[in-house]
Amino acid sequence: MDRIRIRGGNRLTGAIPVSGAKNAALPLMIVSLLSPSTLTLSNVPRLADVRLLQRILQNHGIDIMVAGKRPGQTGMAGDVMHLTARQIAATTAPYELVSRMRASFWVLGPLLARCGEARVSLPGGCAIGTRPVDMHLMAMEKLGAEIEIENGYVVARARKGLRGAHIRFDKVSVGATHAALMAAVLAAGDTLIENAAAEPEIGDVAECLVKMGARIEGIHSPVLRVSGVTSLGGASHSVIPDRIETGTYAMCAGMTGGDVLLQNANAAHIGAVIDVMRQAGIDVEAVTGGIRVRRDGGPLQPVRVETAPFPAFPTDCQAQLMALMTMASGASFIRETIFENRFMHVQELARLGADIHLHGDTAEIRGVRKLTGAPVMATDLRASVSLVIAGLAAAGETTINRVYHLDRGFETLEEKLSACGADVTRLTG
Ligand code: UD1
Repeated sequence: MDRIRIRGGNRLTGAIPVSGAKNAALPLMIVSLLSPSTLTLSNVPRLADVRLLQRILQNHGIDIMVAGKRPGQTGMAGDVMHLTARQIAATTAPYELVSRMRASFWVLGPLLARCGEARVSLPGGCAIGTRPVDMHLMAMEKLGAEIEIENGYVVARARKGLRGAHIRFDKVSVGATHAALMAAVLAAGDTLIENAAAEPEIGDVAECLVKMGARIEGIHSPVLRVSGVTSLGGASHSVIPDRIETGTYAMCAGMTGGDVLLQNANAAHIGAVIDVMRQAGIDVEAVTGGIRVRRDGGPLQPVRVETAPFPAFPTDCQAQLMALMTMASGASFIRETIFENRFMHVQELARLGADIHLHGDTAEIRGVRKLTGAPVMATDLRASVSLVIAGLAAAGETTINRVYHLDRGFETLEEKLSACGADVTRLTG
């Protein structure tokens, strides 16, 4: 199994290209289920999760071409993906595939909208909390689906098709908003979605749907109004830059006292992260072509932060900020309000010398002067990249095991960091 070895202590200087957003690319690929015409996506990141979703969508009969080659053919790589769902070959998404990636559950809405039925495995346990799907099911029921749970599968039927409805979410959910939106675009009549997630990735999906012929108002806001259409056509769409990858590399630069240009990054998508980094004493500036991040020698200042839905500080940057704060000159407090069990990185950061105490949903991070390298274990996607951030500043060698977590969400991480002067190597086998 691959490992990543980091020899800490180097300042990062140079440029890092930000890839397309994983959390936009995945739902955009799923959108292709809604139309018999070709959806062409560009700026698709080359990630393990994208490859897994290709397999899931192929199982439903979608023809997928990436850079002119089909998955499995030699030389397939590239960031332009053509997806054509001329016919849906299967409306079942099996456990073996869905259990490996939670977002694949999101095929439920489009399959139901296009075919009037879907049988999708419940996603099952997840390392960062219970993550139920009750709000997804509520939205489908409001749109007229009958739902049963049979043998671990959600079986949804809408024999006469879906019809527009008023959907109000009690809690903000990215996945449930995607589900409601993707189903409502083909439902008969109007749908009002209130307390919708307003994450930039939802806006990106909505804009793509509009290019395909959907009628949606209120894009980028918490209230979405959809007027159903009978069919959707094809479109070409470029995936937005990954704001979580942006925030992550910004913290790598801040941690090492570096000076890095994050190419293609969109500052408007990470306003809350930028605010916190500035409070921490890091210079963050939107410049032509991206975002420049610098820290000139001064100490890192401690911060108090709470994760919350967009536009607040994202839970997907919480572990990375914690790593950064391990070396601040004082105590920081980070409260996690989205996922109850998202502190698994704490024990691993402690192995590098971090001083972190958990008080319920809040972590108190007492800054230390020095971290020292050690073997550590990646536990989930964002937790594992927090170990990279700490490892970049730790004296000596840090080896991160189970890097398949990183490969799910970070494209060529070691190449991007090495190009800026970090000593990061992938040890294969
Ligand atoms: C998405 C992101 C993930 C991010 C998360 C929060 C993708 C592929 N994943 O995950 O990276 O960390 O948003 O920004 O885009 N909930 C319910 N019932 C439901 C659905 C959710 O109670 O039916 C709860 C969850 O347990 C959680 C909260 O709502 O406490 C938010 O979860 P949600 O926004 O749905 O996360 P995901 O869409 O799974």
